[in-house]
Amino acid sequence: MDRLDGPPRLILVTDLDCTLVDHDDPENTDLLRFNALWEAHYRHDSLLVYCTGRSMRSYLSLRNKKPLLTPDIAITSVGSQIAYGGGESMVSDDVWVARMGEMWNRDIVVEETSKFPQLEPQPDKSQEQHKVSFFVGREHAVEIMKVLPERLLERGVDVKLVYSNDYAFDVLPKGSGKGGALTYLLEKLESEGKQPSNILVCGDSGNDAELFNVPQAYGVMVSNSHKELLQWHEENAKDNPKIILASERCGAGMIEALQRFNLGPNVSPRDGLDTENFHVEVLDTANEVVQFYLLYEKWRCGEVEKSDKYLQNLKSLSSPLGMFVHPSGVEKPIHEWIDDLVNLHGEGKEKQFRIWLDRVSPSLNSPETWIVKFDKHELSDGKVRSCSTRVLLSCQEEKEKLTWMHIQQSWLDGSCSDDQDKWIF
Ligand code: GLC
Ligand code: MG
Repeated sequence: MDRLDGPPRLILVTDLDCTLVDHDDPENTDLLRFNALWEAHYRHDSLLVYCTGRSMRSYLSLRNKKPLLTPDIAITSVGSQIAYGGGESMVSDDVWVARMGEMWNRDIVVEETSKFPQLEPQPDKSQEQHKVSFFVGREHAVEIMKVLPERLLERGVDVKLVYSNDYAFDVLPKGSGKGGALTYLLEKLESEGKQPSNILVCGDSGNDAELFNVPQAYGVMVSNSHKELLQWHEENAKDNPKIILASERCGAGMIEALQRFNLGPNVSPRDGLDTENFHVEVLDTANEVVQFYLLYEKWRCGEVEKSDKYLQNLKSLSSPLGMFVHPSGVEKPIHEWIDDLVNLHGEGKEKQFRIWLDRVSPSLNSPETWIVKFDKHELSDGKVRSCSTRVLLSCQEEKEKLTWMHIQQSWLDGSCSDDQDKWIF
């Protein structure tokens, strides 16, 4: 949360499965659209929060399978865990952990729930210190929810019960749940003088319902939302104009919400790329970098015709003196690397070649130069390779133009290239 100096413009809180991540779309089209929009227009002044029923371990394994951006905060295990810096180096919130321990005793929860034979324990990997989870049908769940909290309270344990997707039943500490965790985070931000200008919550099923109860929050139920969430909405929040049911699925529904609530830019650079002349009008470094890589992706996939004008377009962005230091250490002028692209036109089409940038972070280096740091991920033939990247851009205000002066990369996560000549930029 310390990444931003001031209050976030937007805090976007999203569930993962069937909200940001569409498991029915192996190409991850809307997720990649969302990613490009977030990195080009929101990353620099807003906070991205993932809020999932998955354990930390299970979230990290999803992260290895899907092109998920690094969030600022990861709320996992249905709100019972909060970690900052949701990438490789995450720091758990110990204050929250301590709070979860109040009026909670896992052994007693296990003992009391075992008296209900209809409750089938979820696998061990879904069980956590502050989350005891089962599978059970709706009718039984409703009955158990009527009696279990009282029985536990008699034994000094205060719980919250959450039912999702017509089969998942979670027993959590009272203050937990996705809504509890978000409320805690918002209070924390407020105490630091960083109250966000806007909050958007996004979800699709029962365990997300609480998020929509957070005061001040805009909410979007994606079009593929589970009927239990729609029913909850009908019964509890029908008259709240800040909550909508999107007409689009998953990530597309989230982008739709940014537009309908007027929360900021809402056209993904993946949709609005002007391939003829994409030089962004204002000096907008993050957007420029995102667009550069999208044009490059389109070239590799043959989605623009094999015309020299695109390569000239890329060249016009960079200084003839500008160098690109390949992660292998090979160094040549950027323009020469662009010449090498001729042979790679359309090469990525069958390989589902995709690029996404993560953690785009521009900083002013001198009055006339910017350094933009980001992780570049490239998918080709099912294999992801990643590079930490630094771009030096010079900006001449009077020309309203950024010029790429230097690009330098180093491999991340044990990535390396066996076909070096196909990794450019
Ligand atoms: C996730 C968790 C599961 C939980 C469910 C609903 O699927 O893995 O344990 O019951 O979310 O919250
Ligand atoms: Mg979900």
